[in-house]
Amino acid sequence: MEAERLKRLFWNTLSVEKVNTKENISGWVSESQQMRAERGMHESMQDRHMFLLLWASQGNTGPASFWLLLFLMKHPEAMKAVKNEVDEVLRETGQEVKRGGPLINLTRDMLLKTPVLDSAVDESLRLTAAPVLTRAVLEDMSLKMDNGCEYKIRKGDRVSLFPYTAVQMDPEVHPDPHTFKYNRFLTPDGGKKTEFYKGGKKVKYYNMPWGAGVSMCPGRFFAVNELKQFVFLMLTYFDFELKNPDEEIPDIDVRRWGFGTMQPTRDIPFRYRLRF
Ligand code: HEM
Repeated sequence: MEAERLKRLFWNTLSVEKVNTKENISGWVSESQQMRAERGMHESMQDRHMFLLLWASQGNTGPASFWLLLFLMKHPEAMKAVKNEVDEVLRETGQEVKRGGPLINLTRDMLLKTPVLDSAVDESLRLTAAPVLTRAVLEDMSLKMDNGCEYKIRKGDRVSLFPYTAVQMDPEVHPDPHTFKYNRFLTPDGGKKTEFYKGGKKVKYYNMPWGAGVSMCPGRFFAVNELKQFVFLMLTYFDFELKNPDEEIPDIDVRRWGFGTMQPTRDIPFRYRLRF
């Protein structure tokens, strides 16, 4: 009931009619809105789409940044490896952070040279992104599983998959699945690891924080950039530590399973101070 009320409240608050009365609307919102109108999307669906955009862009990256920073604080060897990489990238571009000096110029090129941070991002999302992927079935079909089972699916059905338990936490695909291993997605020579196996067979979808197929998250490149920029800048300017070094990683709030990036069940006190 409450969820239904809130959904309608947001559809109304973010309706096309109301948004159009505002000034300084973002180009991304107004142009994509115009395109939907030109393609003849019903106005009530356009209102819903506005809410989807708000939730998709705001609801996931915030908690994802929290988890990444927390895992780094909890695992000093991971923090050290990512910090070394960040410092090295800065050195390569001839930049140095000095008290009172210019702010660093963080470019896209610099963010493409961080395989260790990439792996830490993937690992953090593996542990904390738990979306339900739902598809409307448009025609009768059969879905064949790897273990030989076959499901007859009818037109009009909805099929939902939950890759979190199906693959991200599968101990065969990811040994010791509950442990954060910052280098899980790194090859021994420091490249991106893409080979994971189950029952001796290579697994194609070994980590699915972004979903898959036609409606795979279109904001994933933007989101990864946000996450990496956040960590890069934070670690460049500040030292972080948990107030209690023995602090356990909080459980995820399982009531939110299915809604993308999970949230913790409690706050975690930490300290930070300028590095320079
Ligand atoms: C850590 C951050 C994020 C995560 C984990 C995430 C995850 C997801 C997932 C799992 C889906 C559903 C995919 C499927 O059904 O197969 C999705 C859809 C979507 N996401 Fe993201 N997302 C994130 C950030 C963003 C951002 C920053 C934006 C926009 C700038 C965005 C825009 C969207 C949109 C528009 C959809 C709907 C796509 C469709 O139905 O075709 N997401 N996201």
